[in-house]
Amino acid sequence: MRSKEVLEVIGSRVSIRRFRQDPIPDDVVKTIVWAATRAPTAGARENWFFVVIRSEELRKKVHELLIEAHITYAKEIAKMSSDRIEKWKKSMEDGMYLAPLYIAVYIDLNRLSSGGTRNSSEAEFIMEVQSAAAAIENAILAAWSFGVGSVWLGAPLLIEEKFRELMSVSREYKLMGILALGYPLEVPSPRRRKPVDDVTKII
Ligand SMILES: Cc1cc2nc3c(=O)[nH]c(=O)nc-3n(C[C@H](O)[C@H](O)[C@H](O)COP(=O)(O)O)c2cc1C
Repeated sequence: MRSKEVLEVIGSRVSIRRFRQDPIPDDVVKTIVWAATRAPTAGARENWFFVVIRSEELRKKVHELLIEAHITYAKEIAKMSSDRIEKWKKSMEDGMYLAPLYIAVYIDLNRLSSGGTRNSSEAEFIMEVQSAAAAIENAILAAWSFGVGSVWLGAPLLIEEKFRELMSVSREYKLMGILALGYPLEVPSPRRRKPVDDVTKII
């Protein structure tokens, strides 16, 4: 891919929260995960693990947990009014976040470079988190290059244990985020960003 195409993908990408339910072809799913693994990775450790959820039964359960996660976020973090929460809940029950594909991204706490778990240095832990974030963004951009929309979901971290149980993932793994992916039902215009000059200092 030439750089112009990369910039077009970056510039047109938006978070998609409503999806068509038709499946994404196997080779596209594989390429999305491959793109994630091409991200830079601290210490070349490739300390990531992807749980790809395609089965209808599990997707429905993931969706139920996503509703719970977002309501928890609305109450505990965003402190939304009960009216707003009710509206959001209804949108979610009507299909928001229901996707034909979910990819949960984990890091293995036992594979930090020091070999430690929660006692590892903060810097090291941050680098593992950043590596996973780079993988997530690569997956998002690769998906968008195929017309597959996605949204990066952090709210699941608030009820990580419930997702862990559903996906049968061991406690050594820490959830970094979940991607919901699918062909978009609608594509909103890209959200505005602060002008580059406002967030840059040139010295
Ligand atoms: C770390 C992270 C966590 C996010 N968590 C959520 C989430 O839980 N639910 C959600 O609807 N969007 C989530 N988003 C998507 C943001 O809301 C979205 O990127 C932002 O509103 C900007 O919109 P855009 O992606 O369309 O440019 C998350 C994004 C990031 C980077």
